[in-house]
Parts: sequence; structure tokens; C-alpha cells
Amino acid sequence: MNYLLARSVMKRAIAGGNGGRYVSPCAAAAGGMEARGLSMVLIGWRRMMSTAAEPSSTSAVAEKDDKSKSVATGNEKKGDVVVSSYWGVSRPKVTREDGTEWPWNCFMPWETYRADVSIDLTKHHVPKTFIDKVAYRTVKLLRIPTDIFFQRRYGCRAMMLETVAGVPGMVGGMLLHLRSLRKFEQSGGWIKALLEEAENERMHLMTMVELVQPKWYERLLVLTVQGVFFNAFFVLYLLSPKLAHRIVGYLEEEAIHSYTEFLKDIDSGAIENVPAPAIAIDYWRLPKDATLKDVITVIRADEAHHRDVNHFASDIHFQGKELRDAPAPIGYH
Ligand SMILES: [Fe+2]
Ligand SMILES: [Fe+2]
Repeated sequence: MNYLLARSVMKRAIAGGNGGRYVSPCAAAAGGMEARGLSMVLIGWRRMMSTAAEPSSTSAVAEKDDKSKSVATGNEKKGDVVVSSYWGVSRPKVTREDGTEWPWNCFMPWETYRADVSIDLTKHHVPKTFIDKVAYRTVKLLRIPTDIFFQRRYGCRAMMLETVAGVPGMVGGMLLHLRSLRKFEQSGGWIKALLEEAENERMHLMTMVELVQPKWYERLLVLTVQGVFFNAFFVLYLLSPKLAHRIVGYLEEEAIHSYTEFLKDIDSGAIENVPAPAIAIDYWRLPKDATLKDVITVIRADEAHHRDVNHFASDIHFQGKELRDAPAPIGYH
């Protein structure tokens, strides 16, 4: 557990993670004393890295060209990991519209967007065919253990479910990519659309983890569930992409329901409406004073878009066509 937490803390230090993380009550027990102990590990690690970064007149570092020196100097200032510039690989300086430096490496300003919160949240695909009913029942069955395990702990619930939600888009995108290579045919943009969905779900997780620190047994559960779910969904997508997309469509309908309940708990005061994490403010272009309620509202809108995309994809297969026969919803949020 110490290893997992230490790795998590170090990762955030490398990424220049913000100091404004909010740890929910469900994380307090897991964070606490271990976090204090780990801070010493972190300080030692960062000292080690900064020492390693110091140029030495007796080393090959002294022979670097001007460009590499400037890269290294910039990195030292930020406390980032200093890497060899031998390859000439460096990220150009990126700024926000107001001229301030872009603080994230994990996404760029041109990948951010304003969520379309006007989307109809009540849409539902009425199961008619046998496959629809199988998909619907499967999702309803999966919800039972989820409800029992999390009950109304919607912060933990959302964080855990987002670790699963990022899998289908990646599996579907990967399989379509392989198919495109195998069959010498274009994908119609669907590879990109599905990978975008996976990335969007992962950003939901990166946001939730700023608010809720997973406990060790929750991390263990994620490992187990990912191992099972990835392989199960991989096989399912090979056998029946229309069933796979229909299941995801229904999972997204459940996600909308869960986030609606989350919002109800924020409104009732059961969950504190804390300030939004910095990563969420930048990713969804939220106002600086945005709150958790704003974040959950835009995430719920994203889930509604995923619902529509996956039901649409399943419908295409139901018509006996391939996804590439219909325009892919690239950039659809
Ligand atoms: Fe999500
Ligand atoms: Fe989703």
C-alpha cells in the first residue's frame, strides 16, 4: 500500500500537480499518517532528482548545446524530471489565452472544451430485440453489487466506475485500428472517436482522484475488475460489437443516473460543494470559482454524449452495416 501511495504522490509531483487537492471523508482514513510518512520519502526523492540535474563541469553535461541547456534550466526551475535533450525532443512553451503558462502535460488547451449541458439527459433506448434485452439486463445486474458496495458514497462510486468506463472506448478503438490495418480499409473516423471517448473518461477519473483518495482495497478492486472487464469486453467486442456498444450505451444511462444522485446529495448538503479542482477548471473551461457541482454537471453531460454515441454505434450494426459506413462523431462532447 505504501508503495502504491508513494507512487501516486510521486506521479503527481512529476506532473506538477496542484496543491489544491480535496480529500473526501472516505479518503481520510487511508491518507492520514501514511501521507505524512510519505512526504519525507517524496522530499528525499525530489532532492535526489534535483542533485542529479545539477550540471557538472567534469561530465558530458558540459558539452550540451545551448538548446539543451535552456531545456534543462527550464526543467530545473519547475522541479520536473530532467531528461536528456540529446534527441532534441522538447515541448514548445504553451500558454493560456491570458498569456499565463499552461500547467498540464497530460492535455493541451486545444483539447479542452465547454461541455454541452443542454443535452437531453432523459433519453433511453427501449430494449426491443433479444440482444437489447441481454444488454439491458446485464447492466441492471451489474448495478446490484455496485449499489451494495458503494450505497450513497457517490464520490468513491464515481471514481471507481470511471476506472471501468475508460476501457470500452480503448478496446473498441484498438480493435478497429487493428481491423483497419488487417483489411487495408479506412475506419471512417471511428478509431479516433472511440479513443477520444476513452480519453474523456480517463479525464473524469483524473478529476475524481483529485477529490477522492482511493483506499488500498479499492485500488485492489480496480486491479481485479480491470483484469476481468478488459478481457471480457475484448472478447465481447470481437464476437458482437453491436451488443458491446449497446451495453456501453446502457452503462452510460446508469452513469447519468448516478451523477444525478450525486448532484442531489450536493444540493442537500450531504456532500460538500467544494471548489473545483484546477484540472477540471482547465479541461472544461470552467470559471475560476467553479465548484464540485459544476464539475459533476459537465461530467454528466459527457456521459449523455457517450450514451448517444454508443447506442448510435449499436444501431449502425443492427442495420447490418459497419461503423465506417456512418460519419464518426469526432469531437462530440
Ligand atoms: Fe465518465
Ligand atoms: Fe461515459
